[in-house]
Amino acid sequence: METLTKKNVKVLKHPVISHNLSIIRDKNSSCEIFKNALRRITYPLIFEATSALPLKTVEVETPLEKTETEVFDNSCQLIVAPILRAGMIFCEVVQDILPFANIHHIGMYRDETTLEPVWYYNKRKEIKQDKNKVFVIILDPMLATGNSAIDAIKNFIDKGIKEENMVFMSLISSPEGIEKVTGMFPEVKIVTASLDRQLNSKGYIMPGLGDAGDRIYNTVE
Ligand code: URA
Repeated sequence: METLTKKNVKVLKHPVISHNLSIIRDKNSSCEIFKNALRRITYPLIFEATSALPLKTVEVETPLEKTETEVFDNSCQLIVAPILRAGMIFCEVVQDILPFANIHHIGMYRDETTLEPVWYYNKRKEIKQDKNKVFVIILDPMLATGNSAIDAIKNFIDKGIKEENMVFMSLISSPEGIEKVTGMFPEVKIVTASLDRQLNSKGYIMPGLGDAGDRIYNTVE
């Protein structure tokens, strides 16, 4: 299902993903159609993003007999961190699949001149346990310049979270963004549904999908 292009970078490849990406890229797709297609791709992305989460063995009783089975290890903490506003589109599906995750909202917008992220919100639950047992999945549909990704990752590194316990999940990534993030944080895993051609001079991914937030929230001018 996936192509491994670089250590810790997974570009998922699947007919269902390709089909829905085509809907998403099409500028004539309505907001509703766009969001539904994006939700469908969220499933394979989050399954891949969580593929290394630790499990523990428990005993359950089926209607027929007792058996040993595996569940998420509840001595670990899972933090899911959507970067506002576009990252929220992944969040509903992710919360359905991972109801025990703590959602950590990261509010950042991109300064259109410098292309640097400007923080305005950082709402988290205090991390009380062993930092080695904390896992973080950062959500942002577009990994473009990599500046927001790096700031978000640093925010968790500063709290003592290990690089190898972090995943950055995006829908579309640029080669420039991947280079920047992997250059600085080679142990952070990147999961994405497409590696596009390049960034344009305004920091948009080409061919991309335009402004993800505007397409999701129907604010395209
Ligand atoms: N953010 C977007 O929404 N789209 C891009 O192409 C790049 C950054």
